[in-house]
Amino acid sequence: MRSLLRFVSVLTPILAVIAWASVNLFEKLQDSWIERDLARRSQLIFNSIEEGIHSSLASGNLAATKRLLNRIGRDELVHGILICLKKELPVGSALPNAISNDSLSSILRCETLAAQPESSIVSAGDINLNVWRFELTETALGPASVYIVNDSSAWYRRGKTARFYIFGLFVAIAAIVIFISTLVGKWTISRPMRDLAFILKDAMRFGNPRARLKSLSKTEFAPLVRDLRQIAHEFQRLRGSDTESEAGIWTAERLRSYVSRNLSDLDFSVVANREPYIHDRKPDGQIQVLQPASGLVTGVEPILRACNGTWIAHGSGTADKDTVDANNSLRVPPENPEYSLRRVWLTAEEEEGYYYGFSNEGLWPLCHIAHQRPRFDEKDWEQYIKVNKRFADAFKEQFGNKRVTVLIQDYHFSLLPKMIREISPDSLILLFWHIPWPNPEAFGICPWRQEILDGMLAADVLGFHTQFHCNNFIETVDRYVESRIDREFYSIQTQGHECRIRAFPISISTERDRFRSEPVSIRKNHGLPDDTIVAVGVDRVDYTKGIIERIKGVRRFAERRPDLAKRFTFIQIGAPSRVHIPVYRQLNEDVQKLVDETNLVFRETLGRDLIILKLHHHNPSDIQPYYEQANICLVTPLHDGMNLVAKEYVAARATEDGVLILSQFAGASREFREALIVNPYGPDDIASNIIAACEMTPEDQRNRMRRMRKTVKENNVYRWGHRLLKELNDVRQFRQIGGPSD
Ligand code: G6P
Repeated sequence: MRSLLRFVSVLTPILAVIAWASVNLFEKLQDSWIERDLARRSQLIFNSIEEGIHSSLASGNLAATKRLLNRIGRDELVHGILICLKKELPVGSALPNAISNDSLSSILRCETLAAQPESSIVSAGDINLNVWRFELTETALGPASVYIVNDSSAWYRRGKTARFYIFGLFVAIAAIVIFISTLVGKWTISRPMRDLAFILKDAMRFGNPRARLKSLSKTEFAPLVRDLRQIAHEFQRLRGSDTESEAGIWTAERLRSYVSRNLSDLDFSVVANREPYIHDRKPDGQIQVLQPASGLVTGVEPILRACNGTWIAHGSGTADKDTVDANNSLRVPPENPEYSLRRVWLTAEEEEGYYYGFSNEGLWPLCHIAHQRPRFDEKDWEQYIKVNKRFADAFKEQFGNKRVTVLIQDYHFSLLPKMIREISPDSLILLFWHIPWPNPEAFGICPWRQEILDGMLAADVLGFHTQFHCNNFIETVDRYVESRIDREFYSIQTQGHECRIRAFPISISTERDRFRSEPVSIRKNHGLPDDTIVAVGVDRVDYTKGIIERIKGVRRFAERRPDLAKRFTFIQIGAPSRVHIPVYRQLNEDVQKLVDETNLVFRETLGRDLIILKLHHHNPSDIQPYYEQANICLVTPLHDGMNLVAKEYVAARATEDGVLILSQFAGASREFREALIVNPYGPDDIASNIIAACEMTPEDQRNRMRRMRKTVKENNVYRWGHRLLKELNDVRQFRQIGGPSD
């Protein structure tokens, strides 16, 4: 379309200039033709009437002369003839000085015409008269001039009409030329180019240029077809060996290709409690789409986008029901759909028991060991079983007993692997545990530890972020479950089923489009001078995130180094989370109170707030400018499976500066050894590291940041996805379930 516009915009002015020049040339030619024709005509008329005039003047018969002139004047083009005698006639003569046909008398006078050249143009109203003069030397009444007056308006009118048609013809030709060239362009260039693009894409994706080869071989591009086939096959061969190896950078495309080569005969699904897009109704009735603050969503969504499967999740938004189809599904992301989201509806009672109760007041504190006592309630446990069953039913409705590659996410679904195994024994099931796994003693306090472990061990693969958590899990099973543990291969056999235990550190996508943000200045937005050292913290407001300890650390820093504090601001972005649970509600209040108290202490010396607290939901694009522009990022959880905020910050630092202060208890600290590692329980340790970050040389910052960026780029979420799926594929080959093998 763009090339067509370009073509038309070049062609149109060219044709317009040609049309304009042609019409002008034609006008000039036409004028000279008219003049020549009129001269000839006038001469002819004069010749034919010369003798008549002589004899009528000699006889003094005025009536006969007039008749003669009127007869000729009947011609469409001859307006009239005028005879002007040059000699004065004697007074009382019967003849007037000027004789003409009737139509002329009021327009032309002998005195005016005598002063004109031999041929002249006289305009009368909208009539153009072309006047030719002929001399008669010897008449009975002495010398006279004869004026043949032609009405040339008709000639010019015809010329105008001809010009109009010529112009019209040019416009028609231009339109036809543009139309034909467009068609020809489309057939010979655009369509084959599009086919070519499809073929290349197919070749990239499937290693097989299946589509449209036939149509292309009938075009000028035919010679390319054979080469293209060869290139595609070669590409397939190379890519095949590449996708099997871990080497190189993993991309969405590469992962998609891996899935299509190895697992395309199985459907693909993710089951997670949290949905990636929440539809909420605003007070004004409009529906807004929210992206939840969840590391799980950040990590898992790119995999689904790459592999186009079905994400089964709890529909928690107030307008979720209004946006699904009859199957409770919709395509997402809303702006560019790439996969399906199937929503499961829970009653308030189910949500209370399963999500708030057992998952977040029981398992969450149990696994995090953040000194929050877990609460286990029989009723919550019943709801937990019931909801796991609800998700198993949704799975059954969606896939029947088809074989599916299913990635179950997190502690909300410890019973689901077993339930899905019962529905579809040949499915490939992975359960990924995004939070830490505690030591056997800590886990042992859960009254339903046996059922939970049984449910989990029905998976083919159990994933954790770190080897430490895998070890804890193996020890836990060893302590509580009758099983055969292979400590070399890291697998556990129970009732003839083998479950592999693997560490897969999750990550993020570093592909550019994930990091698009509005060019806003966070300093300007918060009224801070340009040279302010900004430190940022981004978390769900959760007691495991160490927000209270972090604020205390910032306060300690300001006490120890007032000189640095003068040009330092800490911005804490906190998404309120699970506020149904009293301890979370209390935490929101405690954070706000501590920030207010701290600001009060320093307001007088600083003349502004030391800490800016933003306690509300932010979409990823709102947070991105903070990652890009903050000099320091404080990630200080008391315990965390991985923590993707650390990775998001590093990935956003395209400028290669900035300092990451990272808790030793976050899984990410195993990968980012170049970060400033802190013990989040010690405010002084946090303060010392903030001082070190403020004073770190640009060179030191760059050296550390470069290495961390390399880590996050290489170990991105697509590599994570590949490692999970490769492990499942390996399980399948090992069990010889069937399907294409490499
Ligand atoms: C952690 C959990 C996720 C959870 C997320 C957000 O990252 O591992 O499973 O989705 O927190 O919490 P929420 O309860 O709001 O889903």
